[in-house]
Amino acid sequence: MMVAGASAEAMDSAARPRIAVTRLLPGGALERLRAAGHVVVHAEDRPPSRDELRALVREADGLLCLLTERIDAEVLDAAPRLRVVSNYAVGVNNVDVAAATRRGILVTNTPDVLTEATADFTWALILAACRRLGEGERLVRAGAWRGWSPTQLLGADVYGKTLGIVGLGRIGRAVARRAAGFAMPVLHHTQRPVDPAVERSLNARPVALDDLLRTADVVSLHVPYTPATHHLVDAARLRLMKPSAFLINTARGPLVDEAALVEALRMGVIAGAGLDVYEREPALAPGLAELPNVVLAPHLGSATVEARSAMADLAAENLLAALAGRRPPHPVNPEVLT
Ligand code: DGY
Repeated sequence: MMVAGASAEAMDSAARPRIAVTRLLPGGALERLRAAGHVVVHAEDRPPSRDELRALVREADGLLCLLTERIDAEVLDAAPRLRVVSNYAVGVNNVDVAAATRRGILVTNTPDVLTEATADFTWALILAACRRLGEGERLVRAGAWRGWSPTQLLGADVYGKTLGIVGLGRIGRAVARRAAGFAMPVLHHTQRPVDPAVERSLNARPVALDDLLRTADVVSLHVPYTPATHHLVDAARLRLMKPSAFLINTARGPLVDEAALVEALRMGVIAGAGLDVYEREPALAPGLAELPNVVLAPHLGSATVEARSAMADLAAENLLAALAGRRPPHPVNPEVLT
């Protein structure tokens, strides 16, 4: 209760929402949040520990978190005032959305603004893996390059090959659009039917997943990670792929059985891979880092100044809208709003 004589400033301060943020963000999003509420930031450049996370959310009305934080029932129970979890990512596999929904907590995400950056990076991995860029770079840096040779580091043509896209959603479509520049026909396997006009515009044909794996020269994964997509690409599915084919993953690590992939790359079951995501980030499956025929990136798909700033702005907008009782641009569990 406010005591007589309390200043207007103190009253205003009591009414302002408490906002927890699990990392420093690029761009002006934090300033925007600070203008609207009391902001507490875990300012170290590492994910908060579980204890730190529980302490951070204890008083929070809103939480802005990253894909590196597991927001499960235990964390939600530590946050009795929490009304919104604004995830700074399009993927929400780090959030127990069902547990949040049961507690009436809205979850939001940041699609669209990272689509083109992630598609660009997917192509960086396709080209790097097929053309052995990592091996070449390591050779030059090691001072071991002895000059041009007709047989040195021969890779695979990309132009004119067949691209298989698993998940023709926002990012899958953006990857497919770029395939036109490489004269690549596209096969896709997508859970929901895709508008035939969209397929025509992308030169993309729907096929069963196993057919896609048998036929494509480059297979690129663009589905969300859920219990149903866990190890979507396992040892058996890797064996369906051509020995000359490449697997690219810029979506989520556990879509692929990473131990099986190490074995497949080692045994020449497939020709190579380009990975931006891993089963147990930042750890790698034993043996993966030693393989020459895999290009390894540290989850950089959306890592441009423009995309990461836009993600921060959108995450802030989602959070502030929810706290103000407005519908945020990207609710994941909109049933909480009704
Ligand atoms: C996402 O938004 O899900 C990405 O993995 C972040 O780059």
